[in-house]
Amino acid sequence: MPTPAPFTVLYLSTELVPYARTGGLAQVAAALPRGLRELGDDVRLILPRYGLIDPARHGLRRLLDSFPVPFEQNHEHAGLWQAPETDLPIYFIEHERFFGSRQGIYSFPDDGERFIFYSRAALEACRHLGWQPQIIHCNEWQTALIPNWLRTTYAEDPFFTETAVIYNIHNLSYQGIFGHRVLEIAGIHSHGFIAHPDLSAGLNEVVSMMGRGIIFADMIVTVSPTYAREILTPEHGEGLDPLLRDRQHRLIGILNGIDTALYNPATDTALAAAFDAADLRGRSQCKRSLQQESGLPPASDIPLIGLTSRLNDHKGYDILSAVLEPLLQHLDAQWLIMGTGEPRYHNYLRDLEARYPARLRALLTYDEALMRRLFAGSDILLMPSRHEPCGLDQMIAMRYGAIPVVHATGGLADTVSDHHPPALGTGFRFDPYDGMALFAAVVRAVEIYRHSDLWAQMQQAGMRRDFSWAQPARAYHAIYRQARSLKLTGRPHA
Ligand code: GLC
Repeated sequence: MPTPAPFTVLYLSTELVPYARTGGLAQVAAALPRGLRELGDDVRLILPRYGLIDPARHGLRRLLDSFPVPFEQNHEHAGLWQAPETDLPIYFIEHERFFGSRQGIYSFPDDGERFIFYSRAALEACRHLGWQPQIIHCNEWQTALIPNWLRTTYAEDPFFTETAVIYNIHNLSYQGIFGHRVLEIAGIHSHGFIAHPDLSAGLNEVVSMMGRGIIFADMIVTVSPTYAREILTPEHGEGLDPLLRDRQHRLIGILNGIDTALYNPATDTALAAAFDAADLRGRSQCKRSLQQESGLPPASDIPLIGLTSRLNDHKGYDILSAVLEPLLQHLDAQWLIMGTGEPRYHNYLRDLEARYPARLRALLTYDEALMRRLFAGSDILLMPSRHEPCGLDQMIAMRYGAIPVVHATGGLADTVSDHHPPALGTGFRFDPYDGMALFAAVVRAVEIYRHSDLWAQMQQAGMRRDFSWAQPARAYHAIYRQARSLKLTGRPHA
């Protein structure tokens, strides 16, 4: 295939491994820009320099002392830092009050101000770097005003007139809803308030940052084809489905990849033994050592079921907690649950663990190396998420030979094929979203587990699937081309 023409791309994310992470976005931001770089694009990242990012530890250096950023009726000053030079420059916006003095990433009362400032400072930083992005790739609500600014405040600014914007939605549940004052802070109040006839009254009385990203972006991308369809419906649209339906012709779903060099059971030094699709023998040692590490009795002939998601209802704990105890009573299986989340689920799991010590262990923590050992040592990974725009863990689990049992939604539906004899699947899916369907899918998986040859074939089928970023990076690159053509000519293809 010929190499597609390269672009200059500003990639904006409020999370990035290894600097700041709360979820999947941090992993995507670390991998997709690299994939685009391999296609020749000049990609640069900018994120806020939160207090938790220690410049000394990461070898950051200050690049710009102070540059003005329009803010409210006036200006604030920002500094710019840079990570050690590579072919993928990473910059950090410095602002003591908004970021430097905060240890956390989100959930401050002034998050609206903080991320409006970050977004605006990122645009102004490009000017000061003398580096003109042809594409700005925005992620989530925190950067959603950029498409809006480019159509208003910056519309006549020669530095940005040829810049196209991609708006990337990772999760519609976090929209950035604020009062009207954010428009003044962002300097766009004079362009008016936007109401949409079909939005529910509630959404028409507030400013939805994400809504603005959807309205003004040249292209909108979400993280799986199924989620891209689901969010057009009132059931999954979280109130924004009328807007998304209006902009449907600009919306596409591109499945995320995973970092297949990092997540490789043949080379992962955190594991007790190495293995790959051609030779799975090391896996039994991984299982034994995981049982030992977590305090489960050694048992090689019954399935070990792992869970690693946050402990909340989004991730399926409402339906799981309705059937977990009967599953513990009736199924000959072990359970290992790692994660943190709502205190009520911490208590619930602590109680179950005390009553079924030989069957269930709850490790109420988040530890990246332990997570990889869990994927390598579990037979089954359960992901019963109510919604899952993409989900990365099921792909990593398959790469490590754990067979996923998932709710058939979003990216889970796009990455896990249901085992439906005689067709060989890579996992087990359930639908509708309820405890009984979950129960039945787990029973189905445990039943197939007894047929060890068939089980190994399913494992190998999952392990051999290509979940790398190579293909998604090409798909994003093609969307950049489309967005730019739409911006410059008003037509999809130049
Ligand atoms: C969000 C979504 C998750 C997705 C991740 C990366 O965290 O909830 O499904 O995998 O973003 O796109």
